[in-house]
Amino acid sequence: MKIFFLGDIVGRSGCLSVKKNLHKIIKKNDINFVIVNGENAADNGLGITEKITNELFDSGVQVITTGNHVWDQKETAKLIENEKRLLRPNNLSSGYPGNGFEIFKVGDFKIGVLNLMGNIFMKKCEDVFQESINFLSKYKLKKDFDFLVVDFHGEITSEKMAIGHLFDGKASLVVGTHTHVPTNDTRILSKGTAYQTDAGMCGDYNSVIGMDKNNSLNRFMKKNSVKHFPSEGEA
Ligand code: FE2
Repeated sequence: MKIFFLGDIVGRSGCLSVKKNLHKIIKKNDINFVIVNGENAADNGLGITEKITNELFDSGVQVITTGNHVWDQKETAKLIENEKRLLRPNNLSSGYPGNGFEIFKVGDFKIGVLNLMGNIFMKKCEDVFQESINFLSKYKLKKDFDFLVVDFHGEITSEKMAIGHLFDGKASLVVGTHTHVPTNDTRILSKGTAYQTDAGMCGDYNSVIGMDKNNSLNRFMKKNSVKHFPSEGEA
């Protein structure tokens, strides 16, 4: 089984790159299943629209995960009720539509995909460690699914790494998203789970985490600036 994971797709340039390249990458590498984080895929970098969701599925994506920006486009709350391939963090407080976990069939195999969000420097959500413990008491690798992929959407490296160890031997892969900067720590944890603190982004690298660099600089320096907007160079 070959599972391909892409970190946060940012704006138009990120979407364009996925549309342009994903089918080729799938073919070249015999990939069976593709998961992307799409919470910055809208044109303004905030949330995801129904149109983009469908475009990503047409490009070869099987599952889209999200994070703190999941509700930034109004239509998402309705879309997520009927679209099981679009996930939101599983540890959102109760009352939100959609799901943060789903099992998908690929041939004879079952792949579980779990979307979690961190608690530190993130929007308020339920305790991610308690949520993980509850999940692991309910679901078991090799019993409920053949593979389990966890997208942990979080800001800080230590929280992500701790979650990696919590799922060690109980998930196939724990990978972080959200910072848009890939970490150089890809490894197999001691009980066999693949791990990387952050997968990085699909966006224009001539930017500040995918956003226009000049505007971002001006915002930091409190000069004339507008709301963040995605950088549009090639991703
Ligand atoms: Fe995020």
